[in-house]
Parts: sequence; structure tokens; C-alpha cells
Amino acid sequence: MEELSNDSQKKIKHYSSSHTILLVGEGDFSFSACLAVAFANASNILATSLDSKESLLRKYTRVSRNLEILELAGGRVVHEVDATTMSQHPLLYDKSFDRIVFNFPHAGFHFKEHDNVQIDGRQLFPGPPADSREKWLKYYSSYHEILLVGEGDFSFSLSLAMSFGSASNIVATSLDSYLDVVTKYKNARLNLRILKGFGASVLHGVDATKMKLHIDLHMRKFDRIIFNFPHAGFFWREDNLLMIRMHKSLVHEFFENASQMLRVDGEIHVNHKTKPPFSDWNVGQLAQQNSLELIGCADFNILDYPGYNNKRGQGKRCDRPFVLGECSTYKFSINHSAKTTPRFLLHMNNNALDVQRNLPFPEIPISNHCCHHPYPTPFESGYSHRNISMQNHPTRFELDYSCVTHSVNAHSRFMTGMLERMSNDDVYWSSNLRSNYGEKIQRSEARRTMPRLFPHW
Ligand SMILES: C[S@@+](CC[C@H](N)C(=O)[O-])C[C@H]1O[C@@H](n2cnc3c(N)ncnc32)[C@H](O)[C@@H]1O
Repeated sequence: MEELSNDSQKKIKHYSSSHTILLVGEGDFSFSACLAVAFANASNILATSLDSKESLLRKYTRVSRNLEILELAGGRVVHEVDATTMSQHPLLYDKSFDRIVFNFPHAGFHFKEHDNVQIDGRQLFPGPPADSREKWLKYYSSYHEILLVGEGDFSFSLSLAMSFGSASNIVATSLDSYLDVVTKYKNARLNLRILKGFGASVLHGVDATKMKLHIDLHMRKFDRIIFNFPHAGFFWREDNLLMIRMHKSLVHEFFENASQMLRVDGEIHVNHKTKPPFSDWNVGQLAQQNSLELIGCADFNILDYPGYNNKRGQGKRCDRPFVLGECSTYKFSINHSAKTTPRFLLHMNNNALDVQRNLPFPEIPISNHCCHHPYPTPFESGYSHRNISMQNHPTRFELDYSCVTHSVNAHSRFMTGMLERMSNDDVYWSSNLRSNYGEKIQRSEARRTMPRLFPHW
């Protein structure tokens, strides 16, 4: 991905991180905190309130959290500042600012408001919103159970949390460990502190290609699963065929996992560039191979997500943004009709393996998002491959590798991992397990046989 040269200045609406900003008459300091998060810094912000800190703490439930955000981000907070006399305030009289913001000035409720309490149908002073009220940011609701994978500095998750005023519905994950995340991204520590303060579940070391097996995830279903700008690393140029294959493999296996972690009417969202060579990944086809259908594709605008900083994610310049250019939010849902393909049709597709030579690594198609049981058995949750074609997606199919002559793929590597983890007695083992050369494997032999068949592992 092409690197963006200048990421020093961050903007949100009328405000920039290069402005010195004075806020007066703050209530619960959520506006100041919002700017701090958007800038990932608050050293340019001086936020004030007329009330004393004690009085604010009595009035607003969220004030201490917002003050903590400001403090962590390096902002200054001064209480008991009267906007009508602030030019003489000892901490302000010699200061000048690029922006002075007074949101919804109001002298108090001493008398009855003017009869016209409604303008354009909006209530002027509706009071603090009830916490349980549904809030939306773009396609995401505070009522959705949301899983984010492949996060960089966690600023996208935080943007959702800030908009919802809570993150108890958010599970935010990264492939990197906590130590790697805070070492790689300068704002990650702050973002994670705030995110956790909002009640998010944060998990590190989550591989999107295996996440359905993750101990904290495998029993959960989500309304939205989001992977922003998946990328397998900078090993070759973006137009190199091997590089494209690696990216495709990542997205393919992410879909395979995510499709099994989705609620019936849930959606998987992938933000992705739309121009070649990125369009060559053909994410729509990768989804289709996993019984998902494209239900929408909308232009992606980073300004819709205040505070979000897209990251290269890998290499020396991992903390740098990349040029977004033309990109879209691809939305997928489970293709329910594909799940009901009549069983007899599946036999017609054994030859479809030829077609699959064009696929990324998994030459044995891996696809399944439905189980017989409401919860997968240990075997099903970990091992759920089906012999299916890319055109038709069965609900269930017997495990049979005999038609496959060679297979050197991610799926096989994954299987070795499973073999290593399995204690033979307490897991179901398919009776007709065959090696990729067609020979039958006894369960007890399996550990030895699989590495022999794939010596490059
Ligand atoms: C281009 S960066 C985008 C980072 C972040 N999503 C953003 O939008 O700023 C690609 C991300 O994909 C992640 N990634 C790569 N392979 C992954 C995998 N197997 N599972 C989870 N994340 C992965 C990397 O760790 C990196 O954070």
C-alpha cells in the first residue's frame, strides 16, 4: 500500500490538531474528549467549565471518564471559569486561541423557556440522553454485537465507542500482542485505555483465519464483523501474483471463520481499495466461496469515523497511514439459499476442483457456517471442512479427500495444528478420514501421517 506522506495534522469538522482550542461552558466534557480522541492528542486543548469539579461529578455520570481521557491525552482542564469574565481569569488573561468554542450557551432554567421550545421538530434542550438509547455511527448501532479484527492502533474501535458512549457491545482484536501493539503505534496505549474504560472487550493475538477456534470467541455470534483494510504484509510489490495470493488467502480464511461467527441476519464488512491491484483480490468471489453474498458496496469515507487513523500495520513504518484512494465498504451476509443446495447436486461438482486451481491456497475448499447442533461440538468447531465446490454450498457433506490428488495448503497446515492439539479419545474422528493421496488413515496414525504427507510444514 502506498504510504501517505503527511499524517501530522488531524481534522474533525471545523477543528484541527494544529489549532489551539479553548472550550468554555463544558458540561460532561464529552465534546472536548471527542476532539482529544479525534486528534489522538489534547495538548492543544484547554477545556473549561463554569461548575466546580465536585459539582460536575454529582451532575454527570460520564464526566470522570471524559476528564481522564483529556488528562491522558495531555489536555488542560480548568473549572469555575465564567465565560463572561474569562478574559480576566488568571490562567487565561494572557492566552490567545485559534478557536474558542461555546456549545449551546444557556443561562439556566430560572424562568419558563419561550413557548417555542421546538425548532424543526427538534427539542432544544432535551437533557442528557438516556444511556440505553440506541446510537448509530454509519452502519453500526450501539445495539449491535460488533467484532473488529485486524485492528491497528484500535482507533476505529474507539471511534465507534465514542459515538455510542459505550463499548460494552464491542470486541476489538488485533493479531499483534499487546506489547507489539503499544510498541508499534504511538497512540495505541491511550486508545486501549479509553476503549477499556468504555467497557470494550479487547483481545490480542487473534488470528482472523483461525478465530472461530479462539477460546473467548468460539461460542459467540455477532451482528457485525469488521476487518478494515486486511493486508497480509509487505513481502513483494502489491501487483506481484504471490503477494495477491497471500492477501486472497487471508481474506478467504477470514470469511470462512467469520461466516461461522455471524448471527442469522448479521453482516461482515470489509473496507478495501477498489482499484487494481487491490480489486484483483476479488473479495466478492472469496466471499461467495464461503457461502456469503455481497449485499452492498458503499464508498468509504474516513471522515465518517472521527478519530480513526488507518495504519500500514507492518514493517518499519507500521504507524504511518497509507493512501486510501478509492475504497469501499463491502458488506456481506450469509447466503441462505446457498445453504439449502440439494445434496444430489453436490456430486456434480467434484470436477469443480479444476476450477479451484485458480483459488488462493486452500485447494481443498473450506466452507461451513452451519452446524447440526446449536453449539458446535469440539470437533465441529475446530474441524469443519466440507468437500464442496465454489458454486454450490451444502449444509453438510461427508468428509472425503479421496478425489484430491495434491494439496499443499493453509488448510492442511491448520489440520496439523488440530492433530497436535487433539487428545484422541475425547474428540470425534471421522471414520473415513483419508490422506490427500487417498489412503485411509487410522486415527492413531494421523499425527505421524500428516507431517509425512506434507514434509515442508
Ligand atoms: C493495512 S493494516 C490495517 C490495520 C487496521 N485495520 C486499520 O485499518 O488501520 C492490515 C492489518 O491486518 C492485520 N492482519 C494481517 N493478517 C492478519 C490475520 N491473520 N489475522 C488478523 N489480522 C491480520 C495486520 O495485523 C494489520 O493490522
